[in-house]
Amino acid sequence: MGEITITIDGKEIKAAEGTTVLEAAKSAGISIPTLCYDGRLEPYGGCRICTVEVETRGRKNLVVACVYPVEKNLIVRTRTEKVDKIRKILLELFLAHAPDSPILQELAKEYGADKDRFEKETSFCILCGLCVRYCAEIKKKNGVGFIDRGTRREISFIPEIAAKECGKCKECFPLCPTEALQAAYVFTEALTSPSPAAVPESEK
Ligand code: SF4
Ligand code: FES
Repeated sequence: MGEITITIDGKEIKAAEGTTVLEAAKSAGISIPTLCYDGRLEPYGGCRICTVEVETRGRKNLVVACVYPVEKNLIVRTRTEKVDKIRKILLELFLAHAPDSPILQELAKEYGADKDRFEKETSFCILCGLCVRYCAEIKKKNGVGFIDRGTRREISFIPEIAAKECGKCKECFPLCPTEALQAAYVFTEALTSPSPAAVPESEK
């Protein structure tokens, strides 16, 4: 695979053809925030917090860095006024769902996002899909999935699979940017495990 030259924030960078703007930036030590990206998983482009401005043949566009491929002579700007504004609004929306998430709070400080701008809908999940995709793509178990659609969309553990697989795995927990996956799991576990009172005396 050949190498091409692109410019990110005024810095000339060599990037392998076929890589994304996010990967090229990372390899050059330029930080772009991400919430749904994991290099081990297929590109997803769900949260859009990695939005950057690209300029090619004199035309400027806003694109999602974790899925946008590099191309010859591409100019990338990671912190324009528009980019920062998009990230600020996205963070305000995410904070309405997960106001206590340390990662979101940290980014909110950087982008001046107001955690109280939108009415709270504390689902604790920002639908980044990391847990769902990790379980499907890496573990090949599909123990957690999305249910419902639109504003009612949320994640749910599949009780029959979770009861068998999740107790010994839990690898999706630390991936969650809101740290609420754990609560969801504990809830499901409570539903699927026999309560202490139901355990026969001989097995205690
Ligand atoms: S529970 Fe966490 S990891 Fe899973 S989709 Fe929601 S925010 Fe992402
Ligand atoms: S990190 Fe790129 S869209 Fe989520």
